[in-house]
Amino acid sequence: MIELADIHKSYGATKVVRGLTLRIAPGELVSLLGPSGCGKTTTLRMIAGLERPESGRIAIDDREVCGPRTFVPPEKRALGMVFQSYAVWPHRSVEANVAYPLVLQKVPAAEREERVVEALRWVRLDHLRHRMPHALSGGQLQRVALARALVSRPRVLLLDEPLSNLDAALREELRAEIAALRARLGTTMVFVTHDQSEALALSDRVAVMNRGVIEQIASPEALYLEPATPFVAGFVGGSNLLEGEARGGAFHTGGVAFVLPSALQDATGPGTLAVRPADLRVGAGEVSLPLSARLFLGHAVEYRFPFGDGLLRAVGPACEAKAGDRVAVRLDGATFFPRR
Ligand SMILES: Nc1ncnc2c1ncn2[C@@H]1O[C@H](COP(=O)(O)OP(=O)(O)OP(=O)(O)O)[C@@H](O)[C@H]1O
Ligand SMILES: [Mg+2]
Repeated sequence: MIELADIHKSYGATKVVRGLTLRIAPGELVSLLGPSGCGKTTTLRMIAGLERPESGRIAIDDREVCGPRTFVPPEKRALGMVFQSYAVWPHRSVEANVAYPLVLQKVPAAEREERVVEALRWVRLDHLRHRMPHALSGGQLQRVALARALVSRPRVLLLDEPLSNLDAALREELRAEIAALRARLGTTMVFVTHDQSEALALSDRVAVMNRGVIEQIASPEALYLEPATPFVAGFVGGSNLLEGEARGGAFHTGGVAFVLPSALQDATGPGTLAVRPADLRVGAGEVSLPLSARLFLGHAVEYRFPFGDGLLRAVGPACEAKAGDRVAVRLDGATFFPRR
């Protein structure tokens, strides 16, 4: 459905996207996940035709929209797009905002009316169609933007952090809404976010971006359970990343030796050990570390240990330990990345 092949893009001397290749199947929801500045928005804007890469090809629905000798402008790519800032026109009612793309397409008034009502129903805003934007909440404004992007029935919808201005409850609600809409309409979606839980919850596949390249693209489960690089392990699982050496069934780092989990008993040599906070067991084990903070999370407790020039984070059930204590810790699971 969407194909990007070896895309390069710079702003001045800064290379922002470096050889990005990505294929998205019809009806698929793929998230671009990565830290601020890694090139997510730039990638989305290139798919939309709002930016032009220096090299590489982009095809949508088997039609080349960008290549050495082709460039199809945004309005001819038939995509829907929702931006982080709702970009809802303040002087137009909800209805007029949503109708606008159809006005541009010269859709006859009667059909337009029908489609606007339909799109507003999709996002459950039909009861507010005559309201002005200033009288809407953030979540409602975001729904207007979503309805406006969907009213043309695009086969592809590009979403750039569409939920980031919303509070936690609204985010969850709209997240569910987007999932339901996709199931109903079969729209192919590219969803940009820097929130890993959002990406994992919504996507068929997640592309983890770092400094203009995709480090790994995989299903949420695969990404979480089998991260391909330390960066992915750190970004997606929130893993602790330890530099050191695997030797004799232990991992030597920062002056201590953690016994490696049984699956890693044969690991040897220098490398990075990624340990998810839930896999760092507190209250048992042969290594003991000073506890610097204990944070109540509701469902669990986070324990922080100063380690090297950083912090080790563990998440688990509440225990007796308090800040200042030396506490035993053990690895219940880990991923080893040998140094390349
Ligand atoms: N028009 C521009 N001119 C110059 N530099 C730009 C321009 N747009 C983006 N950049 C730079 O390109 C890099 C990638 O930007 P981009 O907006 O794609 O990041 P992002 O992954 O979407 O980040 P965020 O999560 O903060 O939105 C950044 O370093 C940014 O400063
Ligand atoms: Mg961005």
